[in-house]
Amino acid sequence: METTDWKNLGFGYTKTDYNVRCYFKDGKWGRLETHSSEDITMHMGATCLHYGQESFEGLKAFRGKDGKIRVFRMDENAKRMAQSAEGIRMEPVPEELFCEAVRKAIKLNERFVPPYESGASLYIRPLLIGTGPQIGVKPAKEFLFVVFVMPVGPYFKEGFKPTDLAIYREYDRAAPHGTGKFKVGGNYAASMAAGERAHEEGYSAVLYLDAKEKKYIDECGPANFFAIRGNQYITPRSTSILESITNKSLRQIATDLGLEVEVRPILEDELATFDEVGACGTAAVISPVKRIVDVEENKEYNYGVDPGKVSTKLYETLRGIQYGTVEDKHNWVQVIE
Ligand code: PLP
Ligand code: COI
Repeated sequence: METTDWKNLGFGYTKTDYNVRCYFKDGKWGRLETHSSEDITMHMGATCLHYGQESFEGLKAFRGKDGKIRVFRMDENAKRMAQSAEGIRMEPVPEELFCEAVRKAIKLNERFVPPYESGASLYIRPLLIGTGPQIGVKPAKEFLFVVFVMPVGPYFKEGFKPTDLAIYREYDRAAPHGTGKFKVGGNYAASMAAGERAHEEGYSAVLYLDAKEKKYIDECGPANFFAIRGNQYITPRSTSILESITNKSLRQIATDLGLEVEVRPILEDELATFDEVGACGTAAVISPVKRIVDVEENKEYNYGVDPGKVSTKLYETLRGIQYGTVEDKHNWVQVIE
């Protein structure tokens, strides 16, 4: 790893030394196993292959200035994966098993945790899949839980520099009361056509409107949406978006900083009234937005070409907590010993 250019890492797959796995079979979870192979063998009738019975998570570990490795809010990811599992009738991974697997995967791949100065981090990808065969549309009886990790840089190549988002009315990602609130693969498959088009047209991501009325802001393909207006932090309430752990943390940081937090439906028309806009998520961290284009309606909303003051403060506080340079008053990080 001596040759890794930590500062210029993008967001992509890199092979690391080990992954950890646990199989659910005969009604119970087995022992946590360590593997060095990147391959998984499964029955060709596995429900994850046919009917999308799969859920994944994304969380990060950071090497602090003090050299310690800190993992951010893994209990929240454990809970969300259990909700996703229940949402599509998979066997939930118990929280202790989830956290043990995450700690083990980090520890075994410690040499891949980027140095503090690089601003990069270790991305942790837990995955739960139905491996048992079914040809009728029914839940599997066997599941595999895997945790693998890789060093990553920013998801949006601009990092903490404002990017452009596109609204396309001809694509929906998730329906109200559908699976949008779960972190399941089908939502991401549903977002690929619009996402690819956005990239081809020079946008960093799609900003989805609610699928029913096409009036309200939902979220981006890989991140939640927030806006700043005066002293307010405003973020959508919707039944078709993922409950982002980053957004939840930013709401708390915003409150701590004396901002007023509003979680409510946001009309697209309100975009014209915001001072700052951003996308937030584990991979995206905070990605400030400089322009949103409603392509079919030929409308454009412009924000600053530099990150806004409030977004910058939120970003610095969040990153500071993650890297151990800002007090962790809400006990969000766990040091990996
Ligand atoms: N929304 C979607 C669709 C996502 O894929 C993600 C990424 O996990 C988020 C929001 C942000 O969630 P979190 O902050 O928990 O990573
Ligand atoms: C994350 O932020 O962890 C995500 O899962 C987003 C994306 C890579 C799908």
